[in-house]
Amino acid sequence: MAYSIALQKRYRDILNDIQDQGLNKEEVQITGLQGAEIHIKSSDNSGEARKINMCSNNYLGLAAHPDILKAAHEALDRRGYGMASVRFICGTQDTHKELEQRMSTFLGTEDCILFSSCFDANAAVFETLMMEEDIMISDRLVHASIIDGMRLSRASHDTYKHSDMLHLEKKLQMYHDRHGKIIVTDGVFSMDGDIAKLQTIVDLAEKHNAMVFLDDSHATGFLGENGRGSHELCGVFGKIDLITTTFGKALGGASGGCVAGRKDLVELLRQRGRPYLFSNSLAPMMTITTLQALNLIEQDDSLRKKLKQNMQWWRKELVAAGFIVVPGESPIVPIMLYDAVLAQEFAKRLFAEGVHAVAFSFPVVPKNQARIRTQLSAAHNPEHLEIALAKFIKVGKELDILGKSKEELLSMHNK
Ligand SMILES: Cc1ncc(COP(=O)(O)O)c(C=O)c1O
Repeated sequence: MAYSIALQKRYRDILNDIQDQGLNKEEVQITGLQGAEIHIKSSDNSGEARKINMCSNNYLGLAAHPDILKAAHEALDRRGYGMASVRFICGTQDTHKELEQRMSTFLGTEDCILFSSCFDANAAVFETLMMEEDIMISDRLVHASIIDGMRLSRASHDTYKHSDMLHLEKKLQMYHDRHGKIIVTDGVFSMDGDIAKLQTIVDLAEKHNAMVFLDDSHATGFLGENGRGSHELCGVFGKIDLITTTFGKALGGASGGCVAGRKDLVELLRQRGRPYLFSNSLAPMMTITTLQALNLIEQDDSLRKKLKQNMQWWRKELVAAGFIVVPGESPIVPIMLYDAVLAQEFAKRLFAEGVHAVAFSFPVVPKNQARIRTQLSAAHNPEHLEIALAKFIKVGKELDILGKSKEELLSMHNK
């Protein structure tokens, strides 16, 4: 047999190593709708329990919104389950074109192309558009899918320190002789929830003749005056060359993604983007339902406002209670515990108290930067947040971490 003893040992050793370092990811099984409250199966399958959900990307609460479910049901009846084809063979419906048009207008670009996910969108961009003689200069904290996308490209790659604009400018000067230059950043950084300095990035790009790539997955639909994203919030709407984003977070939470940008760049992605050419077309139910999500966002700002209020309240109360919170304006609110074991224990106790929030530690975040990443949603009502806060404080008191400094937290479990 090809699966030799040596190979079995190799994979078992890696898995044991993951387990020993406390990095094993357990999946909870949700049995109902995604929302502010979720039902989770007990690990012994004996029943299920209700939890307050503080860790989904369901920012606007659209994943189970009645208008979204209705649009999806109707789309399924009218347009079927799937296309069973890539786009250029027999996989393009009018609604694919309509969504591309709507997204490019919404994001302030000339054109747009859909992908099965934002992961695929990021996998397509750099390989297709950046050539051997070009340079990609990325923020050190960009999302994993962007890193993988850049790896597929023949262009050179360099990084700048997270959000350090002086360092970015140094790098731009260093590569001044490169014809094709692109600055690569997330809009909202997914682990810290901070927002890229897009105004400066756009100025530097103009000064040094570089393009700007922005992954706005954690901003599209709710950041900025009209919910168009971090470029709207930062006053650079219409000035970004390439924007990728997902339909799997605020825009309904199912799946799909896109690249919006300059016409020629989008056209080249349509001709040459491998995840576009060699992967199935987005299901019509997704295109039609995402259009409905855009309708809701454009008609009414109440969900956006509620999300903002929730985020502001949550941040303020956590700080007042003595937690160390990464400051910011996004609904990603990380509570810093620094120590990985402490973060795991905190999340475990919270779960037992009826609150689901996940601990993140190395290698997802740097060493000694372990945290509980909380995420707010417009689906949260004040009662959800009040209960969740009380549970965070209860566990914080039990573990004696409130008001403690980073150094104190890091030394705690070694005592
Ligand atoms: C910043 C960022 N980009 C891209 C992705 C991938 O999006 P999708 O789920 O549509 O593949 C994610 C998802 O976690 C993300 O956080």
